[in-house]
Amino acid sequence: MLADSYGRIATDMRVSLTDRCNLRCAYCMPPEGLEWLPKPEVLTGDEVTRLVRIGVELLGIREVRFTGGEPLLRRDLAAIVSQTAALAPRPDISLTTNGIGLARTAATLREAGLDRVNVSLDTLRPEVFRKLALRDRLPDVLDGLEAAAAAGLGPVKVNTVLMRGINDDEAESLLAYCLERGYELRFIEQMPLDAQHGWKRAEMVTADEIYQQLSQAHDLSPDAERIRGAAPAETFLVDGGPGRVGIIASVTRPFCGACDRVRLTADGQVRNCLFAREESDLRSPLRGGATDEEIAERWRVAVAGKLPGHGINDPSFLQPDRPMSAIGG
Ligand code: 5AD
Ligand code: SF4
Repeated sequence: MLADSYGRIATDMRVSLTDRCNLRCAYCMPPEGLEWLPKPEVLTGDEVTRLVRIGVELLGIREVRFTGGEPLLRRDLAAIVSQTAALAPRPDISLTTNGIGLARTAATLREAGLDRVNVSLDTLRPEVFRKLALRDRLPDVLDGLEAAAAAGLGPVKVNTVLMRGINDDEAESLLAYCLERGYELRFIEQMPLDAQHGWKRAEMVTADEIYQQLSQAHDLSPDAERIRGAAPAETFLVDGGPGRVGIIASVTRPFCGACDRVRLTADGQVRNCLFAREESDLRSPLRGGATDEEIAERWRVAVAGKLPGHGINDPSFLQPDRPMSAIGG
């Protein structure tokens, strides 16, 4: 098991498959992009699946989420998914994506064994998309969502980050769009994870604000079926249900005490938290001929040292060196 000294057990593994992305969302990357990891440093498909296998067979991982950067940029994604689906016990397999390319790949990924997707969608206005993500790809994202639902990759979840003065007037229209199509929308408070260190607490659109905004148009009631537990979203039934909306108060109401996640970066480093300032190298032992048990032991030690919380609200908080795109969501 992957236990830490605060009694938490990591069962949910987030695997970043690449640090590259075809968008430039302002809360994540600078317009010019980043210095990408050199290819030899990025784990191969076989290396990734060996680590996932060790997680599942030796360390109690029950859920595997592939992320990036943009994971659909990996041409071997379907192969990685199908090797993961062949493990025993078979983990739950999901994908966090910006949706570009999903229209083309959803059915294949479903066949390979993918269970669900989370798609990022911050606006329904093409000109805002262009301003926020610096590419003209909104139709691709919407097509991707539709294809995911059609392929049975549901319940399709949509992640939205509201940014002040950019898309903070779209909470209600995004909710209407998602309810109509049966997607489950979750708003995520903007976290200090952008490479350009532009996050400002005062500019953050808070969970309370989002709740107030949505309450003006809808009756939001606590969802008895979804108690929060390790799930970060506080989920509400919209107008009595069955439609739902989630609000993830990562900054204003941290859920670190119930965290069950562990992260693997595209270059084979284990991170016990998005905001960790230390990483544990699994790639060197992996490439140096270590046994599964030796790798598992390093991994256990990495999780054992997990801090109680992310500390964003402490005066001494320091943003991690790696931005979100190089950690994985
Ligand atoms: N704050 C909050 N959410 C973020 N995401 C990316 N960067 C940030 C940030 N700084 C979201 C993306 C994606 C998920 C992986 O995390 O929108 O949906
Ligand atoms: Fe790409 Fe996701 Fe970062 Fe946007 S948030 S630039 S889609 S990795």
